[in-house]
Amino acid sequence: DGYAAAQLFGQGTTYTYDDVIFLPGHIDFAAHDVDLSTHLTKKIQLAAPIVSSPMDTVTEAEMAIAMATLGGLGFLHNNMTLGEQLSHAQRVKRHVPGFVLAPVVLGPQATVAEYDALRAQGSAGGVCVTDSGGVGGRLVGVVAGRDVDFVADRQGTLLREVMTADVEAAQEASAEEALAQLQRSKRKVLPIVNAAGELVRVATRETSLDERRRPRLGKPSTDAGGRLLVGAAVGTRDDDRERVDALRGAGALDVVILDSSQGDSVYQLQMLALLKRAHPDLEVVAGNVVTGAQAQRLAEAGADALRVGMGSGSICTTQEVCAVGRGQAAAVFQVSRVANGLGVPTIADGGIQTSGHVVKALALGASTVMCGSLFAGTAEAPGKYFEVDGVRVKAYRGMGSLEAMAKGSETRYYSDTQALKIAQGVAGTVRDKGSVRRTVPYLLQAVRQGLQDLGARDLPAARAALASGAQRVEARSSSAQAEGNVHDMHSFKKVRW
Ligand code: XMP
Repeated sequence: DGYAAAQLFGQGTTYTYDDVIFLPGHIDFAAHDVDLSTHLTKKIQLAAPIVSSPMDTVTEAEMAIAMATLGGLGFLHNNMTLGEQLSHAQRVKRHVPGFVLAPVVLGPQATVAEYDALRAQGSAGGVCVTDSGGVGGRLVGVVAGRDVDFVADRQGTLLREVMTADVEAAQEASAEEALAQLQRSKRKVLPIVNAAGELVRVATRETSLDERRRPRLGKPSTDAGGRLLVGAAVGTRDDDRERVDALRGAGALDVVILDSSQGDSVYQLQMLALLKRAHPDLEVVAGNVVTGAQAQRLAEAGADALRVGMGSGSICTTQEVCAVGRGQAAAVFQVSRVANGLGVPTIADGGIQTSGHVVKALALGASTVMCGSLFAGTAEAPGKYFEVDGVRVKAYRGMGSLEAMAKGSETRYYSDTQALKIAQGVAGTVRDKGSVRRTVPYLLQAVRQGLQDLGARDLPAARAALASGAQRVEARSSSAQAEGNVHDMHSFKKVRW
């Protein structure tokens, strides 16, 4: 009944996720017993098989922190200077879950108007006042709404005149201790100081409760020292090697991704060799690839993981512009077949819109999925929200769009700087999707249920069933796809995971 994947994908048609369907297996375990832990690379293990894409509208420090906190990982984009990328990477490395990401701190000489401006930008909770005006300065007070509500002269009033100087602070408290203290004090903000009274970080009622409410996902992704894991994208030029040296030298890089739409090139082979020689312990992801032959070349050159996909992303036009690529289900299956045989995990990159796509990618042999559009438009994505036709949106753009290339990402597409620029992606907007901290847990639970339906307790079991042919698959006709979607309803509300 049904086909082995090798039969289905060996018939001359390229298939994407929506074109295929998996036949169910036998269930003898609960969905919460499904173990999603996985390998991102040969050496890095994650509790959740999900990473965010190195795109300039998807992953900067805030997204990378959220992803690692949720058991996945974020890859910082490289459409920014080395200094900027380094500062994002260091922010991830310094972050302690349960505390404010970027505490808002002002000096005692700042005006109430400056406080208002910060609040207008959406900084939550109270503002700490230190003698230096930043983290690391001696804590002298806290300012909250009640301190300034009735101040008439906002330009002329200084924070030192209105701040609450009698601050309850804690010394080097853990997230749990901070929550307990906030509960006791009934205050909104708890500054954490060191023995010298210098501000180290800030806990708020919201961040502490968030950490407690966070559904159990397994452990956050951390290094041997307990700091969050972070990845970064680089290109393959000499200055990209300097980037890796600097990030690695600062202890702020666990895994690097060689970012290219077509990774099977002499540039990546050379870069792999040079990076492996200079940083033997650094995990290097190569790609993107879509065929077994490409996978074999990069795997044999020492890649620690392969990123799979060409033209499958929601903002991609590579297949239309360059006539190359592959349906994403076929690409994930064919690349993973070769790569997994060589002990190299694969990352299914692009085209993920639902939990069903994640299940399909993992069951076709990928060890993790990489998402762009799914995470664009979330609170953690870079950029500010704005309104288009009454809908709250954020910008999302392909790294091969003219807009992104204007900022420097053209090397990803081998764009010839001497010639005309050819776009291989679009720029646009996506809806406000709330916080990944709220949505990713639901997405992962839906994936567990999908694997349970397949009869796979964990990802290795799903991969083994695929390789042996025990997992049966079929292609879906267009009417089967229509049938698999909601139909014949007058109206309905769909919640997508
Ligand atoms: P999703 O579907 O998650 O895809 O939005 C994200 C992935 O798309 C790739 N990417 C591009 N591909 N032109 C392309 O052909 C582009 O401008 C572009 N920008 C990103 C990339 O692999 C990303 O992870």
